[in-house]
Amino acid sequence: MNIQKRKAVELEIIDLAFGGKGLAKPDGYPVFVDRTLPGDKVLVKITKKKKSFAEGKLISFIEPSPLRQETPCRYAAYCGGCRWQALPYETQLEYKTRHVQDSLEHIGLLKGVTVHPVIPSQKTFGFRNKMEFSCSDSRWLLPEELSNPDIKKDFGLGLHVPGTFDRVIDLDQCLIQPDIGNGILNEVRNYIKESGVPAYGLRSHEGFWRFLMLRSSTAFNTWMVNIVTKEANDDLLIPLAEHLQKTFPEIVSVVNNVTAKKAGIATGDYEKLLAGERYLKERLGRFTFEISANSFFQTNTTGAEQLYTLVSQYAGLTGNETVVDLYSGTGTIPIWLSGSAKRVVGIEIVESAVKDAKRNAALNGIDNCDFFVGDIKDVLPKIDAACDVMIIDPPRAGMHKDVVEQVIALAPKKIVYVSCNPATLARDLGMLNGSYKALEVQPVDMFPHTFHIESVALLEAR
Ligand SMILES: C[S@@+](CC[C@H](N)C(=O)[O-])C[C@H]1O[C@@H](n2cnc3c(N)ncnc32)[C@H](O)[C@@H]1O
Repeated sequence: MNIQKRKAVELEIIDLAFGGKGLAKPDGYPVFVDRTLPGDKVLVKITKKKKSFAEGKLISFIEPSPLRQETPCRYAAYCGGCRWQALPYETQLEYKTRHVQDSLEHIGLLKGVTVHPVIPSQKTFGFRNKMEFSCSDSRWLLPEELSNPDIKKDFGLGLHVPGTFDRVIDLDQCLIQPDIGNGILNEVRNYIKESGVPAYGLRSHEGFWRFLMLRSSTAFNTWMVNIVTKEANDDLLIPLAEHLQKTFPEIVSVVNNVTAKKAGIATGDYEKLLAGERYLKERLGRFTFEISANSFFQTNTTGAEQLYTLVSQYAGLTGNETVVDLYSGTGTIPIWLSGSAKRVVGIEIVESAVKDAKRNAALNGIDNCDFFVGDIKDVLPKIDAACDVMIIDPPRAGMHKDVVEQVIALAPKKIVYVSCNPATLARDLGMLNGSYKALEVQPVDMFPHTFHIESVALLEAR
């Protein structure tokens, strides 16, 4: 078949690639097409052509896949969030297990590692305890909105459209968060519109309103609202905070993160408390955690409990071990393991998360956990701890290669590696392979309707 850049071509999608895109293979040549599913017959415009692969943009469906189902969310075909929502959940899980297996084999060059079938998420909607909605001065219009002259394009509060960095869909609901979140989202939108104060533009770098971050506690049904703005403005924000708390008694914390940085990141240079508490309380198992706005916390609470139960099984602690937990966030894993270890050391780069971790340990009456703040590659060599078991739970980018060497030098007998990215999991297990044998991997689905997958791997010193 003749594949040419900027030309339209008819393709049949035969697979889902890692990263979530549909894959066609005309004459064996891979073409990746976003928003397509296996079985779709589609008309595609080729946007990139390389020697070994091409990428295309979906123009239209010639014949939709028999696998396709109605999406409960009306934004699903456009929003960057749930790109697999049209795929039955069981089929999503099959692809996720396979993507973990394929990554280990093809990226990590690891053969014979047992990959168990993925553990499903208990809920497939309303499961996400944290959402970050963007404010934009450039609203992306849905097809049915295009011909409506009453819709203004200079404001949107919602989620990004893939392929655009500055344009957002003005969402009135997102089904993966608990429903109260949709009420809060719409109340904040009304307030912003009535304020007459402009949204921040990622091109102009002018305007005030930047992000709305909502975090909820599954155990207590309470909410934190974090309003991210370019400047502080108590006169505008305190009445909003009071109005929100009056309208939604579930809101226990309203904070304002202030940042004039140009990057589109919802972390403030500083934080102001507008109403209620500075923290949101959550329970995992028998432990209580106080989480501040900028600290990492697993976004699927019941999934997190399953994940940590697995970490604990794989760690197989007897009570005599010293455990080092790299990338420890708010201290959830050290606290979870504290009862079955002699000592647990956590290392984490975000200062507020380490403060949360120390407070959380005290809150739960735990005195055998120590937390250190800093970049792992700088802090780990200075830690004075003989490490029996190491837990590693890095961000999507995986481990820095210096850290891989430091881990090998510390020589723990066992490593439990928790990963939210099968590609970097496979790369890192590949780098550790000379010293550590990967025995088994258990994927856990924390992110239904996306290609993302969490995994826990057990490694043993050779
Ligand atoms: C995937 S989260 C895991 C957190 C924790 N284990 C949990 O389950 O909640 C990764 C954490 O690594 C931290 N982090 C990222 N890069 C780091 C680095 N170079 N050094 C130390 N911590 C880092 C992030 O701030 C984040 O809290």
